[in-house]
Amino acid sequence: MTTSESAPAVVDARAAAGTAQGGSILERPSDPCTLVIFGASGDLTHRKLIPALYNLSCAHMLPERCAVIGFAVSPMEDRTFREAMEEAIRSSDEADTYDEAVCSAFINSLHYITADFEGAAGYEALSAKLEEIEKAHGDAPNRLFYLATPPSFYGDIVARLGEHNLVQKGISSGNGWTRVIIEKPFGHDLATAEKLNQDIHTVLDEEQIYRIDHYLGKETVQNILAFRFANTVIEPIWNRQYIDHVQITAAETLGVEHRAAYYEEAGCLRDMFQNHLLQLLSTVAMEPPVRYAGSSVRDRKADVLRSIVPINPESLTDIVVRGQYGPGNIDGGVASGYRQEDGVSPTSYTETFVALKLCVDNWRWADVPFYLRSGKRLRSKTTEIAIQFKRVPSLFFQFSPEDVIEPNHIVIRIYPDEGISLHFGAKLPGPTMHLRQVEMNFSYATAFKAQRATAYETLLLDAMHGDPTLFNRDDAVETAWAVLQPIMDVWSASRPFQPFPNYAAGSWGPEQSEELLRRDGRAWRNNPAPAPAR
Ligand code: BG6
Repeated sequence: MTTSESAPAVVDARAAAGTAQGGSILERPSDPCTLVIFGASGDLTHRKLIPALYNLSCAHMLPERCAVIGFAVSPMEDRTFREAMEEAIRSSDEADTYDEAVCSAFINSLHYITADFEGAAGYEALSAKLEEIEKAHGDAPNRLFYLATPPSFYGDIVARLGEHNLVQKGISSGNGWTRVIIEKPFGHDLATAEKLNQDIHTVLDEEQIYRIDHYLGKETVQNILAFRFANTVIEPIWNRQYIDHVQITAAETLGVEHRAAYYEEAGCLRDMFQNHLLQLLSTVAMEPPVRYAGSSVRDRKADVLRSIVPINPESLTDIVVRGQYGPGNIDGGVASGYRQEDGVSPTSYTETFVALKLCVDNWRWADVPFYLRSGKRLRSKTTEIAIQFKRVPSLFFQFSPEDVIEPNHIVIRIYPDEGISLHFGAKLPGPTMHLRQVEMNFSYATAFKAQRATAYETLLLDAMHGDPTLFNRDDAVETAWAVLQPIMDVWSASRPFQPFPNYAAGSWGPEQSEELLRRDGRAWRNNPAPAPAR
Protein backbone atom coordinates (compact mmCIF):
# COMPACT_ATOMS: atom_id res chain seq x y z
CA MET A 1 0.00 0.00 0.00
CA THR A 2 1.26 3.50 -0.81
CA THR A 3 2.16 5.55 2.23
CA SER A 4 3.37 8.68 0.48
CA GLU A 5 1.24 11.66 1.47
CA SER A 6 1.56 13.10 -1.97
CA ALA A 7 -0.03 10.13 -3.72
CA PRO A 8 -3.00 11.64 -5.51
CA ALA A 9 -6.39 10.21 -4.76
CA VAL A 10 -7.47 8.03 -7.57
CA VAL A 11 -10.76 9.52 -8.53
CA ASP A 12 -9.54 13.11 -8.44
CA ALA A 13 -8.07 12.44 -11.85
CA ARG A 14 -11.31 10.94 -13.08
CA ALA A 15 -13.36 13.77 -11.68
CA ALA A 16 -11.06 16.21 -13.44
CA ALA A 17 -11.42 14.27 -16.66
CA GLY A 18 -15.17 14.42 -16.28
CA THR A 19 -15.06 18.18 -15.87
CA ALA A 20 -12.88 18.55 -18.92
CA GLN A 21 -15.40 16.57 -20.95
CA GLY A 22 -18.08 18.96 -19.84
CA GLY A 23 -19.60 16.72 -17.23
CA SER A 24 -19.53 13.05 -16.39
CA ILE A 25 -21.60 11.07 -13.98
CA LEU A 26 -18.35 10.15 -12.24
CA GLU A 27 -17.89 13.72 -11.09
CA ARG A 28 -20.41 13.16 -8.37
CA PRO A 29 -21.14 10.39 -5.91
CA SER A 30 -24.15 8.23 -6.69
CA ASP A 31 -27.46 8.19 -4.82
CA PRO A 32 -27.23 7.06 -1.20
CA CYS A 33 -27.31 3.27 -1.22
CA THR A 34 -26.60 0.07 0.64
CA LEU A 35 -24.26 -2.47 -0.89
CA VAL A 36 -24.83 -6.08 0.14
CA ILE A 37 -21.93 -8.42 -0.62
CA PHE A 38 -22.81 -12.11 -0.70
CA GLY A 39 -19.64 -14.11 -0.07
CA ALA A 40 -18.13 -11.30 2.02
CA SER A 41 -15.70 -13.56 3.86
CA GLY A 42 -14.06 -14.56 0.57
CA ASP A 43 -10.95 -13.59 -1.25
CA LEU A 44 -12.53 -11.17 -3.72
CA THR A 45 -14.03 -9.04 -0.95
CA HIS A 46 -10.73 -8.81 0.93
CA ARG A 47 -8.43 -8.30 -2.02
CA LYS A 48 -10.52 -6.21 -4.40
CA LEU A 49 -13.92 -4.97 -3.26
CA ILE A 50 -13.10 -3.48 0.14
CA PRO A 51 -9.87 -1.73 -1.01
CA ALA A 52 -11.81 -0.36 -4.01
CA LEU A 53 -14.61 0.96 -1.80
CA TYR A 54 -12.06 2.47 0.57
CA ASN A 55 -10.33 4.23 -2.35
CA LEU A 56 -13.67 5.62 -3.52
CA SER A 57 -14.29 6.79 0.00
CA CYS A 58 -10.89 8.57 0.12
CA ALA A 59 -11.76 10.32 -3.14
CA HIS A 60 -15.21 11.35 -1.83
CA MET A 61 -16.86 9.32 -4.54
CA LEU A 62 -19.01 7.17 -2.30
CA PRO A 63 -22.38 8.64 -1.44
CA GLU A 64 -22.48 10.36 1.92
CA ARG A 65 -24.94 7.82 3.22
CA CYS A 66 -23.57 4.51 2.09
CA ALA A 67 -23.48 1.28 4.06
CA VAL A 68 -22.03 -2.13 3.26
CA ILE A 69 -23.51 -5.36 4.55
CA GLY A 70 -21.34 -8.47 4.29
CA PHE A 71 -23.31 -11.71 4.06
CA ALA A 72 -21.51 -15.06 4.28
CA VAL A 73 -21.44 -18.43 5.97
CA SER A 74 -18.24 -17.86 7.99
CA PRO A 75 -19.29 -16.84 11.50
CA MET A 76 -18.39 -13.22 12.28
CA GLU A 77 -19.87 -10.24 14.07
CA ASP A 78 -19.81 -6.65 12.87
CA ARG A 79 -16.73 -6.05 15.02
CA THR A 80 -14.68 -8.97 13.71
CA PHE A 81 -15.72 -8.25 10.13
CA ARG A 82 -14.67 -4.63 10.51
CA GLU A 83 -11.31 -5.64 11.98
CA ALA A 84 -10.71 -8.07 9.12
CA MET A 85 -11.64 -5.45 6.52
CA GLU A 86 -9.42 -2.81 8.10
CA GLU A 87 -6.55 -5.26 7.90
CA ALA A 88 -7.49 -5.94 4.26
CA ILE A 89 -7.19 -2.20 3.53
CA ARG A 90 -3.91 -1.80 5.40
CA SER A 91 -2.28 -4.73 3.63
CA SER A 92 -3.67 -4.08 0.16
CA ASP A 93 -1.37 -3.06 -2.69
CA GLU A 94 -4.34 -1.47 -4.35
CA ALA A 95 -5.56 0.75 -1.51
CA ASP A 96 -4.59 4.42 -1.58
CA THR A 97 -2.64 6.16 1.15
CA TYR A 98 -3.89 5.04 4.55
CA ASP A 99 -6.01 7.81 6.01
CA GLU A 100 -7.07 6.94 9.51
CA ALA A 101 -10.10 9.24 9.63
CA VAL A 102 -11.46 8.10 6.26
CA CYS A 103 -10.75 4.48 7.05
CA SER A 104 -12.43 4.61 10.41
CA ALA A 105 -15.57 6.28 8.99
CA PHE A 106 -15.64 3.73 6.18
CA ILE A 107 -15.10 0.76 8.48
CA ASN A 108 -17.93 1.93 10.73
CA SER A 109 -20.31 1.73 7.81
CA LEU A 110 -19.69 -2.03 7.50
CA HIS A 111 -22.08 -4.65 8.89
CA TYR A 112 -22.12 -8.41 8.75
CA ILE A 113 -24.70 -11.17 8.67
CA THR A 114 -23.66 -14.78 9.25
CA ALA A 115 -25.95 -17.01 7.24
CA ASP A 116 -26.05 -19.63 4.54
CA PHE A 117 -27.21 -18.57 1.09
CA GLU A 118 -30.18 -20.91 0.90
CA GLY A 119 -32.05 -20.71 4.21
CA ALA A 120 -34.74 -18.12 4.97
CA ALA A 121 -33.14 -16.91 8.22
CA GLY A 122 -30.32 -14.96 6.55
CA TYR A 123 -32.70 -13.13 4.22
CA GLU A 124 -35.00 -12.22 7.11
CA ALA A 125 -32.01 -10.83 9.02
CA LEU A 126 -30.92 -9.00 5.87
CA SER A 127 -34.35 -7.49 5.38
CA ALA A 128 -34.39 -6.21 8.98
CA LYS A 129 -30.87 -4.81 8.67
CA LEU A 130 -31.64 -3.06 5.38
CA GLU A 131 -34.75 -1.47 6.83
CA GLU A 132 -32.85 -0.31 9.90
CA ILE A 133 -30.11 1.30 7.79
CA GLU A 134 -32.52 2.83 5.28
CA LYS A 135 -34.66 4.25 8.10
CA ALA A 136 -31.62 5.80 9.74
CA HIS A 137 -30.47 7.25 6.40
CA GLY A 138 -33.93 8.51 5.56
CA ASP A 139 -33.46 8.07 1.80
CA ALA A 140 -35.20 6.00 -0.84
CA PRO A 141 -34.12 2.35 -0.44
CA ASN A 142 -31.41 2.03 -3.09
CA ARG A 143 -29.91 -1.44 -2.94
CA LEU A 144 -26.93 -2.88 -4.77
CA PHE A 145 -26.40 -6.61 -4.30
CA TYR A 146 -23.02 -8.10 -5.20
CA LEU A 147 -22.85 -11.85 -5.80
CA ALA A 148 -19.26 -12.83 -4.98
CA THR A 149 -20.10 -16.41 -4.00
CA PRO A 150 -19.32 -19.67 -5.77
CA PRO A 151 -21.30 -19.50 -9.05
CA SER A 152 -23.56 -22.41 -8.12
CA PHE A 153 -25.35 -20.06 -5.67
CA TYR A 154 -26.18 -17.25 -8.11
CA GLY A 155 -29.60 -18.53 -9.16
CA ASP A 156 -30.64 -19.42 -5.60
CA ILE A 157 -29.58 -16.10 -4.13
CA VAL A 158 -31.51 -14.11 -6.73
CA ALA A 159 -34.57 -16.34 -6.18
CA ARG A 160 -34.38 -15.82 -2.39
CA LEU A 161 -33.99 -12.06 -2.85
CA GLY A 162 -37.19 -12.15 -4.88
CA GLU A 163 -39.08 -14.36 -2.43
CA HIS A 164 -38.18 -12.08 0.47
CA ASN A 165 -39.13 -8.92 -1.44
CA LEU A 166 -35.62 -7.60 -1.14
CA VAL A 167 -35.53 -6.60 -4.80
CA GLN A 168 -38.11 -4.71 -6.82
CA LYS A 169 -38.42 -5.78 -10.44
CA GLY A 170 -37.97 -2.90 -12.83
CA ILE A 171 -36.29 0.46 -12.94
CA SER A 172 -37.27 2.61 -9.98
CA SER A 173 -39.14 5.84 -10.22
CA GLY A 174 -38.16 7.60 -7.06
CA ASN A 175 -38.95 4.67 -4.76
CA GLY A 176 -35.42 3.40 -4.72
CA TRP A 177 -33.60 1.14 -7.16
CA THR A 178 -32.30 -2.40 -6.88
CA ARG A 179 -29.39 -3.68 -8.95
CA VAL A 180 -27.51 -6.95 -8.80
CA ILE A 181 -23.86 -7.39 -9.77
CA ILE A 182 -22.99 -10.97 -10.72
CA GLU A 183 -19.40 -12.17 -10.82
CA LYS A 184 -18.01 -14.41 -13.51
CA PRO A 185 -18.27 -17.21 -14.51
CA PHE A 186 -21.86 -16.67 -15.58
CA GLY A 187 -22.85 -20.28 -16.28
CA HIS A 188 -20.68 -23.29 -17.02
CA ASP A 189 -21.63 -23.57 -20.69
CA LEU A 190 -24.27 -22.26 -23.08
CA ALA A 191 -27.15 -24.28 -21.61
CA THR A 192 -26.44 -23.32 -17.99
CA ALA A 193 -25.92 -19.66 -18.91
CA GLU A 194 -29.27 -19.61 -20.73
CA LYS A 195 -30.95 -21.27 -17.75
CA LEU A 196 -29.38 -18.80 -15.31
CA ASN A 197 -30.52 -15.88 -17.47
CA GLN A 198 -34.06 -17.27 -17.58
CA ASP A 199 -34.13 -17.83 -13.83
CA ILE A 200 -32.89 -14.42 -12.83
CA HIS A 201 -35.12 -12.70 -15.37
CA THR A 202 -38.12 -13.99 -13.42
CA VAL A 203 -36.96 -11.78 -10.53
CA LEU A 204 -35.07 -8.94 -12.23
CA ASP A 205 -35.25 -6.99 -15.46
CA GLU A 206 -32.16 -7.16 -17.64
CA GLU A 207 -31.49 -3.46 -16.89
CA GLN A 208 -31.01 -4.37 -13.22
CA ILE A 209 -28.40 -7.06 -13.88
CA TYR A 210 -24.72 -6.11 -13.98
CA ARG A 211 -22.61 -9.10 -15.13
CA ILE A 212 -19.12 -8.10 -14.20
CA ASP A 213 -15.91 -8.76 -16.11
CA HIS A 214 -13.11 -6.93 -14.36
CA TYR A 215 -11.12 -6.64 -17.61
CA LEU A 216 -13.70 -4.16 -18.86
CA GLY A 217 -13.00 -1.87 -15.90
CA LYS A 218 -9.26 -1.73 -16.59
CA GLU A 219 -8.12 1.72 -17.73
CA THR A 220 -6.08 0.25 -20.54
CA VAL A 221 -9.01 -1.74 -21.88
CA GLN A 222 -11.26 1.32 -21.82
CA ASN A 223 -8.47 3.20 -23.55
CA ILE A 224 -8.73 0.89 -26.57
CA LEU A 225 -11.90 2.71 -27.58
CA ALA A 226 -10.29 6.11 -26.97
CA PHE A 227 -7.25 5.09 -29.02
CA ARG A 228 -9.37 3.83 -31.89
CA PHE A 229 -12.13 6.40 -32.00
CA ALA A 230 -10.60 9.63 -30.67
CA ASN A 231 -7.72 9.71 -33.13
CA THR A 232 -8.05 10.34 -36.85
CA VAL A 233 -4.89 8.46 -37.78
CA ILE A 234 -5.84 5.12 -36.26
CA GLU A 235 -9.28 4.16 -37.50
CA PRO A 236 -8.60 4.38 -41.27
CA ILE A 237 -5.94 1.67 -40.98
CA TRP A 238 -7.84 -0.50 -38.48
CA ASN A 239 -9.12 -3.06 -40.96
CA ARG A 240 -8.30 -5.98 -43.25
CA GLN A 241 -6.63 -3.77 -45.82
CA TYR A 242 -3.78 -2.91 -43.47
CA ILE A 243 -3.88 -5.43 -40.64
CA ASP A 244 -2.37 -8.88 -41.16
CA HIS A 245 -3.49 -10.43 -37.88
CA VAL A 246 -4.15 -9.71 -34.21
CA GLN A 247 -2.59 -11.46 -31.20
CA ILE A 248 -4.22 -11.31 -27.78
CA THR A 249 -2.17 -12.69 -24.90
CA ALA A 250 -3.12 -12.99 -21.24
CA ALA A 251 -0.20 -14.88 -19.72
CA GLU A 252 0.18 -15.46 -16.00
CA THR A 253 3.08 -16.67 -13.90
CA LEU A 254 0.79 -17.69 -11.06
CA GLY A 255 -0.46 -21.24 -10.87
CA VAL A 256 -3.86 -22.29 -9.69
CA GLU A 257 -3.14 -21.03 -6.12
CA HIS A 258 -5.86 -21.94 -3.63
CA ARG A 259 -8.61 -22.14 -6.29
CA ALA A 260 -8.15 -25.75 -7.37
CA ALA A 261 -11.75 -26.74 -6.62
CA TYR A 262 -13.06 -24.04 -8.94
CA TYR A 263 -10.33 -24.35 -11.54
CA GLU A 264 -10.55 -28.12 -11.88
CA GLU A 265 -14.16 -27.63 -13.03
CA ALA A 266 -13.53 -24.50 -15.07
CA GLY A 267 -10.17 -24.79 -16.84
CA CYS A 268 -8.56 -22.03 -18.84
CA LEU A 269 -11.14 -21.82 -21.64
CA ARG A 270 -14.02 -21.08 -19.27
CA ASP A 271 -11.93 -19.05 -16.83
CA MET A 272 -10.31 -16.65 -19.30
CA PHE A 273 -11.68 -17.01 -22.84
CA GLN A 274 -15.45 -16.96 -22.44
CA ASN A 275 -15.15 -13.60 -20.72
CA HIS A 276 -11.87 -11.65 -20.69
CA LEU A 277 -10.33 -12.68 -24.01
CA LEU A 278 -13.52 -12.52 -26.05
CA GLN A 279 -14.24 -9.13 -24.49
CA LEU A 280 -10.80 -7.88 -25.54
CA LEU A 281 -11.40 -9.25 -29.02
CA SER A 282 -14.76 -7.54 -29.34
CA THR A 283 -13.36 -4.24 -28.05
CA VAL A 284 -10.56 -4.34 -30.61
CA ALA A 285 -12.84 -5.40 -33.45
CA MET A 286 -16.10 -3.50 -32.84
CA GLU A 287 -17.52 -0.88 -35.16
CA PRO A 288 -17.82 2.67 -33.79
CA PRO A 289 -20.79 2.99 -31.44
CA VAL A 290 -23.27 5.83 -31.87
CA ARG A 291 -22.43 7.07 -28.40
CA TYR A 292 -20.41 5.95 -25.39
CA ALA A 293 -23.34 4.69 -23.41
CA GLY A 294 -25.33 1.61 -22.47
CA SER A 295 -26.76 -0.20 -25.43
CA SER A 296 -24.73 1.44 -28.18
CA VAL A 297 -21.34 0.09 -27.10
CA ARG A 298 -22.80 -3.23 -26.05
CA ASP A 299 -24.66 -3.65 -29.36
CA ARG A 300 -21.49 -3.14 -31.38
CA LYS A 301 -19.54 -5.59 -29.22
CA ALA A 302 -22.29 -8.18 -29.49
CA ASP A 303 -22.13 -7.77 -33.30
CA VAL A 304 -18.50 -8.88 -33.22
CA LEU A 305 -19.25 -11.99 -31.18
CA ARG A 306 -22.06 -12.85 -33.56
CA SER A 307 -19.69 -12.46 -36.53
CA ILE A 308 -17.12 -14.96 -35.26
CA VAL A 309 -16.90 -17.82 -37.73
CA PRO A 310 -18.44 -20.88 -36.03
CA ILE A 311 -15.89 -23.42 -34.89
CA ASN A 312 -16.00 -26.69 -36.77
CA PRO A 313 -15.65 -29.56 -34.25
CA GLU A 314 -14.29 -31.80 -37.02
CA SER A 315 -11.14 -29.72 -37.43
CA LEU A 316 -10.55 -28.51 -33.93
CA THR A 317 -6.84 -29.28 -33.87
CA ASP A 318 -6.33 -26.81 -36.73
CA ILE A 319 -7.43 -23.88 -34.61
CA VAL A 320 -7.07 -24.69 -30.92
CA VAL A 321 -4.38 -26.04 -28.60
CA ARG A 322 -4.87 -27.06 -25.00
CA GLY A 323 -2.10 -27.50 -22.48
CA GLN A 324 -1.37 -28.25 -18.88
CA TYR A 325 1.78 -27.22 -17.04
CA GLY A 326 4.24 -29.66 -15.58
CA PRO A 327 7.02 -28.80 -13.13
CA GLY A 328 9.47 -26.10 -14.15
CA ASN A 329 11.24 -22.91 -13.14
CA ILE A 330 9.77 -19.44 -12.83
CA ASP A 331 11.63 -16.30 -11.73
CA GLY A 332 14.55 -18.37 -10.44
CA GLY A 333 12.31 -20.60 -8.31
CA VAL A 334 11.05 -24.13 -8.79
CA ALA A 335 7.35 -24.50 -9.58
CA SER A 336 5.48 -27.75 -9.26
CA GLY A 337 3.25 -29.14 -11.98
CA TYR A 338 -0.51 -28.58 -12.05
CA ARG A 339 -1.23 -32.18 -11.07
CA GLN A 340 0.91 -31.74 -7.95
CA GLU A 341 -0.99 -28.63 -6.76
CA ASP A 342 -3.14 -28.88 -3.63
CA GLY A 343 -6.65 -30.02 -4.46
CA VAL A 344 -5.83 -31.07 -8.03
CA SER A 345 -6.36 -34.65 -9.17
CA PRO A 346 -3.02 -36.37 -9.99
CA THR A 347 -4.63 -37.51 -13.26
CA SER A 348 -6.37 -34.22 -14.03
CA TYR A 349 -7.10 -33.35 -17.65
CA THR A 350 -8.06 -29.77 -16.88
CA GLU A 351 -6.36 -27.38 -19.30
CA THR A 352 -4.26 -24.57 -17.84
CA PHE A 353 -3.34 -23.16 -21.27
CA VAL A 354 -5.29 -22.48 -24.44
CA ALA A 355 -4.27 -21.00 -27.78
CA LEU A 356 -7.09 -20.34 -30.21
CA LYS A 357 -7.40 -18.94 -33.71
CA LEU A 358 -10.67 -17.18 -34.50
CA CYS A 359 -11.91 -15.35 -37.56
CA VAL A 360 -14.44 -12.54 -37.61
CA ASP A 361 -16.49 -12.69 -40.77
CA ASN A 362 -17.48 -9.13 -41.56
CA TRP A 363 -16.44 -6.37 -43.96
CA ARG A 364 -13.76 -5.02 -41.66
CA TRP A 365 -12.12 -8.28 -40.62
CA ALA A 366 -12.70 -11.01 -43.20
CA ASP A 367 -9.52 -13.14 -43.54
CA VAL A 368 -7.74 -11.46 -40.60
CA PRO A 369 -7.03 -14.13 -37.99
CA PHE A 370 -7.27 -13.31 -34.30
CA TYR A 371 -4.88 -15.49 -32.27
CA LEU A 372 -5.78 -15.67 -28.59
CA ARG A 373 -3.77 -17.37 -25.87
CA SER A 374 -3.83 -17.55 -22.12
CA GLY A 375 -2.28 -19.78 -19.54
CA LYS A 376 -1.08 -20.23 -16.00
CA ARG A 377 2.57 -20.61 -15.02
CA LEU A 378 3.90 -19.04 -18.19
CA ARG A 379 7.17 -17.16 -18.59
CA SER A 380 5.91 -13.74 -17.59
CA LYS A 381 2.77 -11.97 -16.44
CA THR A 382 1.88 -10.22 -19.66
CA THR A 383 -1.48 -9.05 -20.94
CA GLU A 384 -1.34 -7.38 -24.32
CA ILE A 385 -2.93 -7.00 -27.71
CA ALA A 386 -0.58 -6.88 -30.68
CA ILE A 387 -1.94 -5.56 -33.96
CA GLN A 388 0.37 -6.71 -36.69
CA PHE A 389 0.19 -4.78 -39.95
CA LYS A 390 0.90 -6.13 -43.42
CA ARG A 391 4.37 -6.05 -44.88
CA VAL A 392 5.27 -3.26 -47.26
CA PRO A 393 4.84 -4.42 -50.86
CA SER A 394 8.55 -4.12 -51.62
CA LEU A 395 11.47 -3.38 -49.34
CA PHE A 396 14.24 -1.84 -51.44
CA PHE A 397 16.45 -1.01 -48.43
CA GLN A 398 17.69 -4.54 -47.86
CA PHE A 399 21.42 -4.18 -48.23
CA SER A 400 22.43 -6.77 -45.64
CA PRO A 401 20.73 -9.71 -43.87
CA GLU A 402 20.36 -7.51 -40.77
CA ASP A 403 18.14 -5.11 -42.66
CA VAL A 404 15.22 -7.52 -42.58
CA ILE A 405 12.69 -5.60 -40.59
CA GLU A 406 9.45 -6.81 -39.16
CA PRO A 407 6.13 -5.40 -40.33
CA ASN A 408 4.74 -2.53 -38.25
CA HIS A 409 2.85 -3.45 -35.16
CA ILE A 410 0.98 -1.63 -32.47
CA VAL A 411 1.08 -3.20 -29.04
CA ILE A 412 -1.56 -2.29 -26.49
CA ARG A 413 -0.04 -3.23 -23.14
CA ILE A 414 -2.63 -4.00 -20.49
CA TYR A 415 -0.10 -5.39 -18.02
CA PRO A 416 2.64 -4.65 -16.98
CA ASP A 417 3.85 -1.16 -17.92
CA GLU A 418 0.46 -0.12 -19.25
CA GLY A 419 0.65 1.81 -22.47
CA ILE A 420 0.77 1.59 -26.24
CA SER A 421 3.74 1.26 -28.55
CA LEU A 422 4.18 1.54 -32.28
CA HIS A 423 7.00 -0.50 -33.78
CA PHE A 424 8.44 0.61 -37.09
CA GLY A 425 11.59 0.54 -39.21
CA ALA A 426 14.05 3.44 -39.05
CA LYS A 427 17.38 4.31 -40.58
CA LEU A 428 20.38 3.36 -38.51
CA PRO A 429 22.54 6.50 -38.03
CA GLY A 430 25.58 6.49 -40.29
CA PRO A 431 26.70 7.19 -43.83
CA THR A 432 25.01 4.16 -45.38
CA MET A 433 21.37 3.13 -45.52
CA HIS A 434 20.70 0.41 -42.99
CA LEU A 435 17.47 -0.25 -41.15
CA ARG A 436 16.55 -1.25 -37.64
CA GLN A 437 13.29 -1.79 -35.77
CA VAL A 438 12.46 1.03 -33.31
CA GLU A 439 9.62 1.71 -30.93
CA MET A 440 7.52 4.79 -30.20
CA ASN A 441 6.10 4.44 -26.77
CA PHE A 442 3.25 5.87 -24.72
CA SER A 443 3.35 4.86 -21.08
CA TYR A 444 0.55 5.65 -18.67
CA ALA A 445 2.95 5.97 -15.76
CA THR A 446 4.95 8.75 -17.37
CA ALA A 447 2.20 10.47 -19.34
CA PHE A 448 -0.24 10.86 -16.48
CA LYS A 449 0.67 11.78 -12.95
CA ALA A 450 -2.63 10.76 -11.45
CA GLN A 451 -3.02 7.32 -10.01
CA ARG A 452 -5.33 5.15 -12.08
CA ALA A 453 -8.60 3.79 -10.80
CA THR A 454 -8.59 0.04 -10.23
CA ALA A 455 -11.05 -1.94 -12.33
CA TYR A 456 -13.31 -2.59 -9.35
CA GLU A 457 -13.53 1.09 -8.42
CA THR A 458 -14.70 1.95 -11.91
CA LEU A 459 -17.18 -0.89 -12.07
CA LEU A 460 -18.63 -0.43 -8.57
CA LEU A 461 -19.13 3.24 -9.23
CA ASP A 462 -20.73 2.58 -12.62
CA ALA A 463 -23.16 0.11 -11.04
CA MET A 464 -24.05 2.64 -8.33
CA HIS A 465 -24.71 5.19 -11.06
CA GLY A 466 -26.73 2.71 -13.11
CA ASP A 467 -24.34 2.82 -16.06
CA PRO A 468 -24.18 -0.65 -17.67
CA THR A 469 -21.77 0.20 -20.52
CA LEU A 470 -18.91 -1.84 -19.06
CA PHE A 471 -21.02 -4.83 -18.02
CA ASN A 472 -22.03 -7.87 -20.02
CA ARG A 473 -25.51 -8.19 -21.40
CA ASP A 474 -27.47 -11.47 -21.47
CA ASP A 475 -27.21 -11.96 -25.24
CA ALA A 476 -23.46 -11.27 -25.32
CA VAL A 477 -22.75 -13.73 -22.51
CA GLU A 478 -24.72 -16.42 -24.28
CA THR A 479 -23.09 -15.68 -27.65
CA ALA A 480 -19.65 -15.95 -26.07
CA TRP A 481 -20.56 -19.36 -24.65
CA ALA A 482 -21.97 -20.39 -28.04
CA VAL A 483 -18.66 -19.49 -29.73
CA LEU A 484 -16.74 -21.85 -27.45
CA GLN A 485 -19.33 -24.60 -27.02
CA PRO A 486 -17.99 -26.81 -29.86
CA ILE A 487 -14.57 -26.85 -28.19
CA MET A 488 -16.02 -27.68 -24.78
CA ASP A 489 -18.10 -30.50 -26.29
CA VAL A 490 -15.12 -32.14 -27.97
CA TRP A 491 -12.77 -31.65 -25.03
CA SER A 492 -15.20 -33.09 -22.52
CA ALA A 493 -15.51 -36.21 -24.67
CA SER A 494 -11.88 -36.83 -25.57
CA ARG A 495 -8.40 -36.77 -24.12
CA PRO A 496 -5.88 -34.19 -25.34
CA PHE A 497 -4.06 -34.95 -28.55
CA GLN A 498 -0.71 -34.60 -26.75
CA PRO A 499 -0.46 -36.25 -23.31
CA PHE A 500 -0.65 -33.84 -20.35
CA PRO A 501 1.40 -32.18 -18.96
CA ASN A 502 2.65 -30.77 -22.23
CA TYR A 503 4.46 -27.61 -21.18
CA ALA A 504 6.92 -26.77 -18.43
CA ALA A 505 6.10 -24.10 -15.87
CA GLY A 506 8.04 -21.00 -16.91
CA SER A 507 7.78 -21.62 -20.67
CA TRP A 508 5.47 -19.97 -23.21
CA GLY A 509 3.17 -22.98 -23.35
CA PRO A 510 3.11 -26.14 -25.45
CA GLU A 511 5.07 -26.38 -28.66
CA GLN A 512 1.79 -26.87 -30.56
CA SER A 513 0.89 -23.29 -29.68
CA GLU A 514 3.93 -22.09 -31.63
CA GLU A 515 3.01 -24.51 -34.39
CA LEU A 516 -0.51 -23.03 -34.60
CA LEU A 517 0.98 -19.75 -35.86
CA ARG A 518 3.93 -21.26 -37.69
CA ARG A 519 1.50 -23.12 -39.95
CA ASP A 520 0.18 -19.72 -41.02
CA GLY A 521 3.69 -18.31 -41.49
CA ARG A 522 3.44 -16.25 -38.31
CA ALA A 523 4.89 -16.29 -34.79
CA TRP A 524 3.79 -15.25 -31.32
CA ARG A 525 5.25 -12.04 -29.99
CA ASN A 526 6.88 -13.52 -26.91
CA ASN A 527 7.92 -10.84 -24.49
CA PRO A 528 10.95 -12.27 -22.73
CA ALA A 529 11.07 -9.67 -19.95
CA PRO A 530 9.96 -11.02 -16.60
CA ALA A 531 7.07 -9.05 -15.11
CA PRO A 532 7.54 -7.20 -11.82
CA ALA A 533 6.50 -9.20 -8.75
CA ARG A 534 2.78 -8.91 -8.07
C1 BG6 B 1 -9.75 -14.02 -13.26
C2 BG6 B 1 -9.47 -15.48 -13.39
O1 BG6 B 1 -10.98 -13.69 -13.82
O2 BG6 B 1 -8.73 -13.27 -13.93
C3 BG6 B 1 -8.11 -15.81 -12.80
O3 BG6 B 1 -10.47 -16.22 -12.71
C4 BG6 B 1 -7.04 -14.94 -13.43
O4 BG6 B 1 -7.80 -17.18 -12.98
C5 BG6 B 1 -7.44 -13.48 -13.38
O5 BG6 B 1 -5.84 -15.14 -12.69
C6 BG6 B 1 -6.47 -12.63 -14.18
O6 BG6 B 1 -6.77 -11.27 -13.97
P1 BG6 B 1 -5.67 -10.16 -14.15
O7 BG6 B 1 -6.39 -8.88 -13.92
O8 BG6 B 1 -4.61 -10.43 -13.11
O9 BG6 B 1 -5.13 -10.31 -15.53
